[in-house]
Amino acid sequence: MEYKVKKVILPAAGLGTRFLPATKASPKEMLPIVDKPMIQYAIEEAIECGIEEFIIITGKHKRAIEDHFDSAYELEEKLKFDGKKKLLEEINKLSHIKFAYIRQRVALGLGHAILCAKPFVKDEPFAVILSDDVIDPDYHLLKEMVGVYEEVDCPVIALEEVSESEVSRYGIIDGVREGDVVRISSLVEKPRREAAPSNLAIIGRYILTPDIFRILEKQKPGAGGEIQLTDALKELLKKRTIYGYPIKGKRYDAGDKVGFLRATVDLALKNPEVAEPFKAYILDVAAGLTGGKKETKSLKARG
Ligand code: G1P
Repeated sequence: MEYKVKKVILPAAGLGTRFLPATKASPKEMLPIVDKPMIQYAIEEAIECGIEEFIIITGKHKRAIEDHFDSAYELEEKLKFDGKKKLLEEINKLSHIKFAYIRQRVALGLGHAILCAKPFVKDEPFAVILSDDVIDPDYHLLKEMVGVYEEVDCPVIALEEVSESEVSRYGIIDGVREGDVVRISSLVEKPRREAAPSNLAIIGRYILTPDIFRILEKQKPGAGGEIQLTDALKELLKKRTIYGYPIKGKRYDAGDKVGFLRATVDLALKNPEVAEPFKAYILDVAAGLTGGKKETKSLKARG
């Protein structure tokens, strides 16, 4: 089997119901965190791992994703004319990348979305990124997972401990810790709190092997009536070892309103263009909340 991970599948056909009304007619993957849409963070994360081909699974109302990664002739000409070199570079940063778009006609679940990419993936391992799980760009999670995959030659899925009240929102695993990884012994998609085997949740980064497709082809709908990737992995576990990789950095559930706001605050504080005035502003807000004295520079200047 081909050893290197060269492809990534980015499912982006979901309805984004947790973020309504913003996602009524616009893709949730295009919601900007500071100045880039969520899906661009995911693409940049994959590029950093040496991934060369990007397969995006889209659906209705998702045209904006294709437009975002396409060239924008009029805009480019205008920026050139205005001498805005930096902005021009920024919007063309990803113009060398090869994208394939596959339209999932009906939102039948994550497992089904992955299966849609089968014709584009040969006998090779591939990564899956769920772009609403935003990983701190300073933490190179996917790169670490590719490293683990190359060592163990088995599927690797990212894990994070969640609180007991949250287990029913995730795929949950059971397993045995072996150094940096967890050898998985069972998986269940969105269990009830009482039925969860642990509080180790699957988060949206996977390195998978092509044998998952044969299972997905036969997979019956599971939780929520959808074809679940977790159920297919459970089936695959009967045939081969699957490892979990507990993450060591920060992850934001940016498909959720509060998670999205957290990501926005943290990434804004790391963004050189906005960090300073934004920090002054949030200190000011915090002071207001705790009854402290408001005295940040930017507000003084304004006053
Ligand atoms: C999907 C997976 C789930 C995983 C989660 C991570 O669920 O089915 O196993 O824990 O992503 O974000 P979704 O959030 O699409 O309902």
